[in-house]
Amino acid sequence: MDKAQQDALKKAAGIEAAKLIQNGMIAGLGTGSTVRFLVDELGRRVKEEGLEFTGVTTSRRTQEQAEGYGIKIVNIDDVDHIDVTIDGADEVDKNFNGIKGGGAALLWEKIVATNSNKIVWIVDESKVVDTIGKFPLPVEVIPFGAGQVVKKFEAKYRLARVGGEPVRTDENNYVVDLHLERIDHPQELAQDLITTVGVVEHGLFLNMVDQVIVGDPNGPRVMDNPNK
Ligand code: A5P
Repeated sequence: MDKAQQDALKKAAGIEAAKLIQNGMIAGLGTGSTVRFLVDELGRRVKEEGLEFTGVTTSRRTQEQAEGYGIKIVNIDDVDHIDVTIDGADEVDKNFNGIKGGGAALLWEKIVATNSNKIVWIVDESKVVDTIGKFPLPVEVIPFGAGQVVKKFEAKYRLARVGGEPVRTDENNYVVDLHLERIDHPQELAQDLITTVGVVEHGLFLNMVDQVIVGDPNGPRVMDNPNK
C-alpha cells in the first residue's frame, strides 16, 4: 500500500469516528496523522453543522490544530469525565493489545485514555497484526540515567530527523524505541518496563481500547472488544 492509499484509509476511519462526537460531549483527542483527519472533520462539523463539544488533547500539536478550528480545548484537570477518546495506534492485535507512541505522545495519550469512559482507535488496515512488536515499542524515559534504560532494554534513542538531537516529549523527556520484532508476552514486558526506575511510561496499551475503527478499502469496519 502506498502512502496515498494509506492516507485515504486513515481519512475514512477519521471521518467515521467523528460521527461519535455529539453536542455537549467532552472528547479526548489523540495525536498523529490519522487523528489529524479526525480533527479536520470535527472542525468541518463545528463550522457547517454547529457542533459544540469540549476537547481534551493528548499533545500540543493536536491542541493547536483543534483550536485553529474554534474547538474549545480545556485542561484534563478541568473536566470531571471524558465521554470518549479517539486516538490513533501503531499496531493492534486480535486481543486488542496495541502499541502507541509513534508520535511520541504516549504519556499524555495514556493519561487521557485511562480517564475516558470509552476509548476508540482509528487505524488503517495495515496496522491490524497477528502479533504486535514489529513496530518499535516507544518508551518515555527521564533524561537523567536514560542510558541505563537504553542498555537494559537494548533500546535506541529516538532522534530528531533534523539536527539528530534526542526527541523531547511534551513533558521534556526522551523517547527510546525497543526493536523487538515480536512481543509474545506483552504483560510481562509492560511490568518489567514500568517497574524500571526512570521509565515514565511505555507504549503498550493492553486491552484498553473498546473499539477499533479500521480504514479498509471496502469502507471503514468496526472491531468491538468483547472483553470490555
Ligand atoms: C502518537 O504518539 C501515537 O500514539 C499515534 O497515535 C500513533 O503513532 C498513530 O499515528 P499515525 O496516525 O500518524 O499513524
